[in-house]
Amino acid sequence: MTQRNKTMFSLDKILRKNIKNLTPYSSARDEFQGEASVYLDANENAFGSPLDTPYNRYPDPLQYNVKKRLSEIKGVPIRNIFLGNGSDEAIDILFRSFCNPGVDNVILVPPTYGMYEVSANINDIETRKVPLTADFQLNLDGIAEAIDERTKLIFICSPNNPTGNSMNRDDVETLLANFNGLVVVDEAYINFSRQKTFIQELTEYANLVVLQTLSKAWGLAGLRVGMAFASEEIIEVMNKVKPPYNINESSQQLALKALGNVDQVNGWIKEILVQRDKLVLNLKDFDFVLDIYPSDANFILVKTTDPKGIYNFLVQKGIIVRDRSKIDLCEGSLRITVGTPAENDKLIETLKKFK
Ligand SMILES: Cc1ncc(COP(=O)(O)O)c(C=O)c1O
Repeated sequence: MTQRNKTMFSLDKILRKNIKNLTPYSSARDEFQGEASVYLDANENAFGSPLDTPYNRYPDPLQYNVKKRLSEIKGVPIRNIFLGNGSDEAIDILFRSFCNPGVDNVILVPPTYGMYEVSANINDIETRKVPLTADFQLNLDGIAEAIDERTKLIFICSPNNPTGNSMNRDDVETLLANFNGLVVVDEAYINFSRQKTFIQELTEYANLVVLQTLSKAWGLAGLRVGMAFASEEIIEVMNKVKPPYNINESSQQLALKALGNVDQVNGWIKEILVQRDKLVLNLKDFDFVLDIYPSDANFILVKTTDPKGIYNFLVQKGIIVRDRSKIDLCEGSLRITVGTPAENDKLIETLKKFK
């Protein structure tokens, strides 16, 4: 592997000692792979399940079939893919694998996705916050100052939730090249972006973790399937720490089926982008809209004169958007997900009645 990280990055050095020494749970399905006619190894109900599908059996702990299909779609070897119960689980597992509670810290760059901080707090990990610049980009000097020898992870969300923009690629590469811990690039919204994914950089940076999810463009938020792409060594650690059967059988089967529908998903992505542009044009006409930030995602951040008033008015009319106006740098702003044409029309028609 080419290594463009200029530090002496070593996974061994940042791994928690208890995780390094951990003997992972060995499930019945880990110990035997292949086909047999009689399975008496996992204390399942051999008579069946009350459903048509054989849910009486535990699912594949390493989700081979789903990963095989993802590997074809993403062009990444199976050994570089981790699947979590949503990417939220991958975030939590990164904390549990690499951050010592009460000792280590991570860098967050707000405004950004809220679960990084919640997960840090659950795991008793200090968060060092280095706000984005006024144009929602990384403050590299600030990040460099905040890093110390106990900094294990930096979370970069690109395209960023809730601002919608992508981070400058060169800035992310600067972090990847100079940081001695893991740079986690959360690409939950990458399918809507003009930017290319960081997945191609996995062979360049041993300290890169890319998160993606089936919850957004793939339309499968209810299945709870998230992905982490990283070096084989990082993926091995994450698999060791995860609960043995973290992706249930129905989610595995349905995800596999859905992954056969690439064309349908690509069609939706195109349509969502058309709808996003239309929504922006329509929203611009309102006097109470002060600014609409450029978006690389399936939502837009809209700065208004009266976020609370608009939010409450929409709620009364049965339309829910996200009030982000209390968040630093998002003052006055509502986050609006792009809906179907009918939903977007309803939003615009309703807003015409707002005074
Ligand atoms: C940036 C970002 N990352 C991760 C997630 C969580 O995704 P998942 O449904 O895969 O847990 C979200 C959900 O809103 C998100 O906005």
